[in-house]
Amino acid sequence: MSAEPVAPAGGTLIVGSTGFIGRFVAEASLDSGRSTFVLVRSGPASPTKAHAIASLKEKGAIVIPGSITDGEFMEKVLKEHEIEVVISAVGGESILDQLALIHAIKTVGTVKRFLPSEFGHDIDRADPVEPGLTMYKQKRQVRRAIEGAGIPYTYICCNSIAAWPYHDDTHPADVLPPLDCFHIYGDGSVKAYFVAGTDIGKFTIKCNDDDRTINKSVHFQPQSNLLNMNQLASLWEKKLGRTLPRVTVTEDDLLVAAKEMLIPESIVASLTHDIFIKGCQINYTLDRDTDVEVTSLYPEASFRTIEECFNDFIDKVVDSPVVVAKKVDSPVVVIGEPGGDDNIVMPNPGAKALAITATCA
Ligand SMILES: NC(=O)c1ccc[n+]([C@@H]2O[C@H](COP(=O)([O-])OP(=O)(O)OC[C@H]3O[C@@H](n4cnc5c(N)ncnc54)[C@H](OP(=O)(O)O)[C@@H]3O)[C@@H](O)[C@H]2O)c1
Repeated sequence: MSAEPVAPAGGTLIVGSTGFIGRFVAEASLDSGRSTFVLVRSGPASPTKAHAIASLKEKGAIVIPGSITDGEFMEKVLKEHEIEVVISAVGGESILDQLALIHAIKTVGTVKRFLPSEFGHDIDRADPVEPGLTMYKQKRQVRRAIEGAGIPYTYICCNSIAAWPYHDDTHPADVLPPLDCFHIYGDGSVKAYFVAGTDIGKFTIKCNDDDRTINKSVHFQPQSNLLNMNQLASLWEKKLGRTLPRVTVTEDDLLVAAKEMLIPESIVASLTHDIFIKGCQINYTLDRDTDVEVTSLYPEASFRTIEECFNDFIDKVVDSPVVVAKKVDSPVVVIGEPGGDDNIVMPNPGAKALAITATCA
């Protein structure tokens, strides 16, 4: 039988709430009704960041300006606001910033649980080529620092976000699946778990105060969301109502792109190789006593299917036909109203890309 998590009495502090994953987590925390503090770095905010802050504030978030690199300040924040849960979703370039936060959490001694910025694979198992490996080594360093400090933790291994898995720096935030042709990695038969961002947020919050997930890695393996690239492409074709050419991107293509060491593009190429060639999401069993699986923890809860997520994307294709920004040197094209909040971002086929030789032409 599944035990219902009990919301903590104290506050939840979310770091990185203006970012891609952190926004889902912050919104889920607010939806759950708990007292939610969001740490936001000061300095000039882009329109997207300003919009995210305003929207979180409107939903009840208490905004605290500051950076986790300021240890003394963080100790004050944790004490004054009686923070019991800290969730970090800082981006790949800021992983080691969390070491100062860990020090502050240890010094204060009142935080009941810390969720570091993971939100991907089990980084103690997966072993991508460089430069993805360097990021994993940093995430491992953060894990060891948490464990060494004796801070209760939960590691969220949520696998892939439910979006088309582009191999370059096309960030998954609101990016549509292809409209011209598919790049299929290898033979397109290796499966991965594609989880909706809202579910990543919802289940992160659900398990962060559940005793069964203390000092565990929580693996997101909903069977309904396990697909290979050919299946993903067919599903998108069904939504579009037409077929698209499929071009093979070979293992060598991905390794060459990773070797270019363009950051962050080559990191994404190396992780793409790990997922869709090596099968890093499916090539292990949950046989460690630190492993728990989210659908076993909450068998009554459902996950959004890829089909439902693709329905959201297809609505955007229909609703937003106007290209408002397209630069040859930009990896993306922005589609929608000038300055619009709901604009969508597409990969720019004209942009200089990684050395992937496969082309749609
Ligand atoms: N599973 C997946 O498919 C998937 C996809 C993407 C990311 N991820 C993982 O999810 C995590 C978050 O990545 P992301 O792409 O969501 O990141 P992101 O969009 O780059 O956002 C990072 C956030 O962290 C904040 N931040 C960075 N350094 C900070 C500091 N020193 N103090 C306070 N705030 C700081 C940023 O604030 P500013 O706005 O001030 O910069 C921003 O809000 C990473 O571990 C990443 O590997 C997983």
